[in-house]
Amino acid sequence: MSTSLLEVEKINSFYGDSHILFDVSLSVGRNEVVALLGRNGAGKTTTLRSIMGVLAPRSGTILLDGTPIQGRPPFEIARRGLQLVPEERAIFGQLTVEENLRLAALTAPKAWSLDRIYEFFPRLKERRRSGGRQLSGGEQQMLAIARALIRDAQVILLDEPFEGLAPLIVRDLVRVSRDLAAQGRTILVVEQNVVAALSFADRVYILNNGHMVWQGTPAGLRADPSLMKAHLGI
Ligand SMILES: Nc1ncnc2c1ncn2[C@@H]1O[C@H](COP(=O)(O)OP(=O)(O)OP(=O)(O)O)[C@@H](O)[C@H]1O
Ligand SMILES: [Mg+2]
Repeated sequence: MSTSLLEVEKINSFYGDSHILFDVSLSVGRNEVVALLGRNGAGKTTTLRSIMGVLAPRSGTILLDGTPIQGRPPFEIARRGLQLVPEERAIFGQLTVEENLRLAALTAPKAWSLDRIYEFFPRLKERRRSGGRQLSGGEQQMLAIARALIRDAQVILLDEPFEGLAPLIVRDLVRVSRDLAAQGRTILVVEQNVVAALSFADRVYILNNGHMVWQGTPAGLRADPSLMKAHLGI
């Protein structure tokens, strides 16, 4: 049995006839923060969707704590402790912050209390009676992460959590993400904001055209400007 909490081995994913992921492998250890980087269209979101079961890989294996989960439906994968926070955040604009949280907790086998969530996100407590639509971008992202957390997610898949947010808000969210990892959660984050991602990732993978082309540490990536330029365009 592997020692990684999440182990993706040579998955191939398709949209219809389009082959998108080619033998993609990655592993995420318990309490690790791993960043998955790559240009637009590289296959980052497709990787997260494949792990979550939204898109079943055509071949390859995905092990969660040693158990194969590939091809299982998303609700079952969620019940095993995985949560995807999608790029579009998918919170309910007509519901209040608290209603959004209660709804997320409803079907979780082991939900956190609202108080525990509010301890983590004091800002959400202040805004608990506000409608989802009235929240700022940063608050919406906090709520999206909080909805994963209230379901006691062990592994949180974050798709571009910092997109469109001001630097100060990004800094806040980076701190939150670090706290999450320190408190035993495991995070796989996809980001275009390479600087922010490198500021809190333990390890990094780079996808290019559906192929995993590099893995290493943030320091290793920073030390190789040609790599940054070739695959990340910076
Ligand atoms: N629903 C879909 N149907 C068909 N092709 C898709 C679909 N979603 C994505 N693709 C294609 O799959 C490839 C990978 O897309 P994906 O969304 O995984 O990239 P990404 O790395 O997340 O990019 P971005 O940084 O723009 O979010 C792209 O070529 C994209 O056009
Ligand atoms: Mg994407």
